[in-house]
Amino acid sequence: MRKNNRINGSCYITCERLGFREEIMEGKQWLLPLLLVLLLVAVSMDLSGHHLQSPFTEGCKYVLRSPSSQQVRSERQKKGIALKANLSSCHPSFTNGGDQMGSCCPPAWPVQQIVDFKFPDPSSPIRVRRAAHLVDEEYKAKYKRAVAIMKELPLDHPHNFWRQADLHCLYCTGGYNQVNSTAPFKIHHSWLFFPWHRALLYIHERILGKLIGDDNFALTYWSWDHPDGMHFPTMFTEGVLNNTQRDTINLPRVVDDNYRAEDRGLTDSEQILDNLALLYHQMVSGAKKPELFMGCKFRSGVEGYCEGEGTVEEAPHSTVHGWVGNRNNPFKEDMGAFHSAGLDPILYAHHPNVDRMWATWQKMRDNELEFDDEEWLDTEFNFYDENLQLVRIRVRDVLDMSKLRYEYEGIGLPWLDARPKPSVPPEIARSILKKRHDHGDVVLLMPGETPEAHGSPGNWRLDKPITVRVERPRINRTKKEKEEEEEVLFIYGIDTKKSSFVKFDVFINVVEETVLSPQSREFAGIFARIHDSWRYGKEGKKVKPHLKLGISELLEDLQAEGDDNIWVTLVPRGGTAVNTTVEGMRVEFMK
Ligand code: C2O
Repeated sequence: MRKNNRINGSCYITCERLGFREEIMEGKQWLLPLLLVLLLVAVSMDLSGHHLQSPFTEGCKYVLRSPSSQQVRSERQKKGIALKANLSSCHPSFTNGGDQMGSCCPPAWPVQQIVDFKFPDPSSPIRVRRAAHLVDEEYKAKYKRAVAIMKELPLDHPHNFWRQADLHCLYCTGGYNQVNSTAPFKIHHSWLFFPWHRALLYIHERILGKLIGDDNFALTYWSWDHPDGMHFPTMFTEGVLNNTQRDTINLPRVVDDNYRAEDRGLTDSEQILDNLALLYHQMVSGAKKPELFMGCKFRSGVEGYCEGEGTVEEAPHSTVHGWVGNRNNPFKEDMGAFHSAGLDPILYAHHPNVDRMWATWQKMRDNELEFDDEEWLDTEFNFYDENLQLVRIRVRDVLDMSKLRYEYEGIGLPWLDARPKPSVPPEIARSILKKRHDHGDVVLLMPGETPEAHGSPGNWRLDKPITVRVERPRINRTKKEKEEEEEVLFIYGIDTKKSSFVKFDVFINVVEETVLSPQSREFAGIFARIHDSWRYGKEGKKVKPHLKLGISELLEDLQAEGDDNIWVTLVPRGGTAVNTTVEGMRVEFMK
């Protein structure tokens, strides 16, 4: 496997080693000259052939200041400090097994005052991101030229291709701690997912444009949601846009948005139908409330940590990552793991489509604000912009695409019409399920199985499918009640152990297990995880992921609204979940 082309061991200015903290520094301008002198020493060492590491960054150890988490939280609230990364805390990231990974910390760049992001001039041209299967040769040549320049920049230049890749690594694996906390600042599996990636793409696009002197330059999107765009875009297999660490078996096929680490033997047209049905579920029936689509409410401090992604982040986002990554690498690098995904140029076409899904969902709900929550709106991301200025972009800055002066070329949304049908007539299904119910057990046992076959209660193993009876606290809700509160299946305490790619599907009231796919109405959602870190530090306690699935529409279509119970079947895929356990599930209601 190829090693990452990054400078290991070097680190952002470690103010803490000098006894300062970022937040203290903000008010102390006189420190800057002093630091600059120290930096010059470091830089001159580098010029004289020394490694980039300076005496101040050597080792990149981060200092733990750990008042109790409660203290941290109330302090933060008092001061009104936004959730953000402590840029002086860069440290190696951890894998989900708790092992230390490589570092993606940037080299020692000069200390800069962070300035507030400014919106582009409202009269500036709108950059139109076109679908990758529709762009012309001229555009491809331009894109390749920009990336070629990016790859030739000095390795320690913030616009260098590999430094850009490290941004993704840093923020996606928790390479920085949060300000005032030992909890990592990480932007996956929560409501920070869409905003952070939108900011990254905005910056990356402008840097590419700047490198070729084109103010109109726009990224392109890989439209894995549209039949015409479901093949891997050929332009990303050419020249500087190519990458050797991809799955050569998958790549020539129609993309499997519902990738499950096994060959499903579908024809192209079956795969397309499967993809469209999946998109309908992830964008429409499963995404009726902001938290279901955006992910859990990640807040500051150790106790604000959450692990629960929204529908589209699960799939197609994570599944497509897994589908592209090379199956022969330990964690399906490059695209199949957060630490390496940025090394593959396709990331910058995959994520625009993820972003386009967000924009589409926003439009479908008339751009109503997702969360009227200051902590979310003020969460801050830091990037070097196209002018090498270190900027602070807040969540509130990236909510409206038009203010950022870009848009997506429309190609239609065929999945809107892909509402699935029950695989078995609901009447028949219900009578079969009633009989099973009479059996009395919570876990449905196959003939000859004992309850232990599925692990102990509170610790169910996903080495094989498991079906569990879950009670519904309320039945026969009115239309109004259903609009106000979505019925949600909450699956909690998901422990993926040291696995790399994990995938399981969730179905409700299934009687015929062999025909399961998103094309059956019984499909309730997906859990898909590519390799990542989900502890907040080596010694930190585990934060186990959860999955929240909106099921109101599904229960309507299955005529199950009057039932006291539902039968939930978890189906592990491709042997990826053999080590995964689940603590439990219940039905909740979400505003
Ligand atoms: Cu930060 Cu697609 O990942």
